[in-house]
Amino acid sequence: MSAARGVPPSLVESLPRDISVAAHEIGPLEKLVEEARQLGFSLPAALESAIDKRQREYLAGRISARHALTHLLGSAISEGEIAADDDDVPRWPEGVVGSISHGAGFGFAAVAAADRYRGLGVDVERVVSTQQAGRLGARVLNDREMSLRQGSAGGLTEAEMFTLAFSAKESAYKALFPCYRRVLGFSDVELERRDAEEADRHGRVRLRARLDPEEQGVAAPLVGWYAFSEKDADANSRNAPRVWTLVVAERDGQELAP
Ligand SMILES: CC(C)(COP(=O)(O)OP(=O)(O)OC[C@H]1O[C@@H](n2cnc3c(N)ncnc32)[C@H](O)[C@@H]1OP(=O)(O)O)[C@@H](O)C(=O)NCCC(=O)NCCS
Repeated sequence: MSAARGVPPSLVESLPRDISVAAHEIGPLEKLVEEARQLGFSLPAALESAIDKRQREYLAGRISARHALTHLLGSAISEGEIAADDDDVPRWPEGVVGSISHGAGFGFAAVAAADRYRGLGVDVERVVSTQQAGRLGARVLNDREMSLRQGSAGGLTEAEMFTLAFSAKESAYKALFPCYRRVLGFSDVELERRDAEEADRHGRVRLRARLDPEEQGVAAPLVGWYAFSEKDADANSRNAPRVWTLVVAERDGQELAP
């Protein structure tokens, strides 16, 4: 797997080799439209009158998805549009699971074989300010999850831990929703463990989602990877690092029966 431009190499290198990822900068609209045309797709009719930001995010997400699919399947099978269903879930080719995110200046996508993974979710976010983390913290993570910020190599700041938990839970939701079609809140997904590597800038997480609060034991175990990227060199951008997360529900993980 090649280290896709924009995706931190530390994330790419720690992922299982059967997951393909790609990122694409959310550049000017005309450039994205041309890049999409070369890949055999265009903006869907429903987005023709959308605001510039939505159009650019959509295209950067779909261009990333096309590159990830080409890496997984080869270019012959992976051309054309990736439509969405009524819940906005992308429709992947037969036998493929995947996910798209766009934010913090990048589209980001990952795909893998459906016979290996039940679901896969990705997310990219800017690390929030300390004030935002303080204001929103209790809605996203509990004290036990916040305590996972401590690490052997200095640990994460509260703002970094908040953003990591937020992003990993969004990725977990995107991995599970296409399969189970259940809306989950932040407290329905528990971040159970964080294993950090290399000065705490990337690592692995374990999560568990309660798919049905009424039914004890209906829970999905999930594994994820994360990486913090460096601050932008560009002085004009909001100069906070990004966190990138990718979460999978493995097929050979603990079985669940919704
Ligand atoms: C789906 C959701 C997680 C998307 O997150 P976001 O931060 O708004 O946006 P992102 O840029 O990261 O991702 C958007 C992409 O996710 C995909 N997506 C949208 N809804 C989805 C769903 N229900 N399941 C899986 N993927 C979905 C789409 O590809 C979309 O991009 P597109 O419209 O250009 O195709 C969010 O909008 C949502 O519905 N949240 C409610 C549930 C939740 O957040 N619970 C807390 C975490 S458990």
